[in-house]
Amino acid sequence: MRIVLGVGGGIAAYKVASLLRLFTEAGHDVTVIPTEAASRFVGVATWEALSGNPVTNSVFDDVDQVKHVRLGHEADLIVVAPATADLLARAATGQANDLLTNTLLMASGPVLFAPAMHTEMWQHAATQANVETLRSRGVTVLEPASGRLTGSDSGPGRLPEPEAIFEAAMALAHGLQAVAPLSPSVNVTAGGTSTGPLFPLAGRTVTISAGGTREPLDPVRFLGNRSSGKQGVALAAAARDAGATVRLVAAHMEVPAPAGVELIAVETALQLREVMLAAAAESDVVIMAAAVADFRPAEVSGSKIKKRDDTADPVITLIRNPDILHELVAVRDAAGSSQLVVGFAAETGDEQGDVLSYAEAKLKRKGCDLLVVNHVGADKVFGQDNNSVVILSRAGSEPQSAAGSKQDVAAIVIDRIGSELSRVFPRT
Ligand code: CTP
Repeated sequence: MRIVLGVGGGIAAYKVASLLRLFTEAGHDVTVIPTEAASRFVGVATWEALSGNPVTNSVFDDVDQVKHVRLGHEADLIVVAPATADLLARAATGQANDLLTNTLLMASGPVLFAPAMHTEMWQHAATQANVETLRSRGVTVLEPASGRLTGSDSGPGRLPEPEAIFEAAMALAHGLQAVAPLSPSVNVTAGGTSTGPLFPLAGRTVTISAGGTREPLDPVRFLGNRSSGKQGVALAAAARDAGATVRLVAAHMEVPAPAGVELIAVETALQLREVMLAAAAESDVVIMAAAVADFRPAEVSGSKIKKRDDTADPVITLIRNPDILHELVAVRDAAGSSQLVVGFAAETGDEQGDVLSYAEAKLKRKGCDLLVVNHVGADKVFGQDNNSVVILSRAGSEPQSAAGSKQDVAAIVIDRIGSELSRVFPRT
């Protein structure tokens, strides 16, 4: 998405650097337009370095590019933070005395203001009237947060936290699609192009498990596996970018969770089961991308198991963990809901069968709607940046192949989930 981030002249301008980071990490192209006053708080060089785009606040820079017209026209979303009393007044009265206010007058997409000022200024009749005017024109003006302000005063007037502004901005961008569908965009993926909607999962809640469980043996040892969590994290980011509210249930991962998703950390298969069953009850889509240990030590020693010369070497007895995916499907079926359940399968072929025949048997056994099949080898899948999968469907459609980076594969899987959902319960 192309985002214009207008920065007003308030002390909270420094917090907007984190907001800018959230936008860029989510893959958006951000042009920052600070007001002249904002440049007294945070320098232009900071915005240029963090956004990777040139920054100016003058309509007289790069006149040949007619920036004040182009930026407003081309932006998919304009976010102004902190929106000072002065900026709200200038926007409400349609002034065009710097690049930011010019851009606001040229805006053709959604606009969001995140105000920050002293409580008296926020509550002043003039500011409230300006807010009212802007809202009546369809502009979103967030309520400021309450708390300690710059001086000794406190009350409503604090800039909402960057994560809250980020979420509101994404919701606004996605909500726009729900109200008036955007023209179909072309999502380019490694598997080719698709012409689905820009935010196919807008309004959906998606729960994704990722990483590898660890089954404790004693306070220092565990049984684990090679899963890095990269594919699950890529799925979470792709689902978020597709407009979903995303919950990432993370067992051990080697990569950080993406911004803008709710993270719930777990360690063992039993903990993962409990969290997934609870989260699934509120989800439209459940994706089991975690590598779940099939077995756990029957006994967990409360103290470190010591090696001793006078006793035999320890023997570890393993017991079965529950099959979480199978249980999620059973709960869904018992509730008669149209939730979409997606499994992953790490497969190897052998003399008795090839990867696909094992995968088809697993799809039947697990009962999920889609099964994303990885071919696992010594140097394949775990910890790697690339992946190659086949998506099998319970409905029996042709297997779909996807290959590329784990992000490419995630985009294709999420795209497929979007089309399955619109088939199962289309938007009205
Ligand atoms: N899975 C699960 N609970 C388990 C084991 C696996 O929910 N106890 C899920 C995985 O998250 C994945 C799918 O089941 O989505 C398939 O995992 P996989 O390890 O390929 O299959 P298993 O059921 O463990 O079968 P096997 O290892 O015997 O092939």
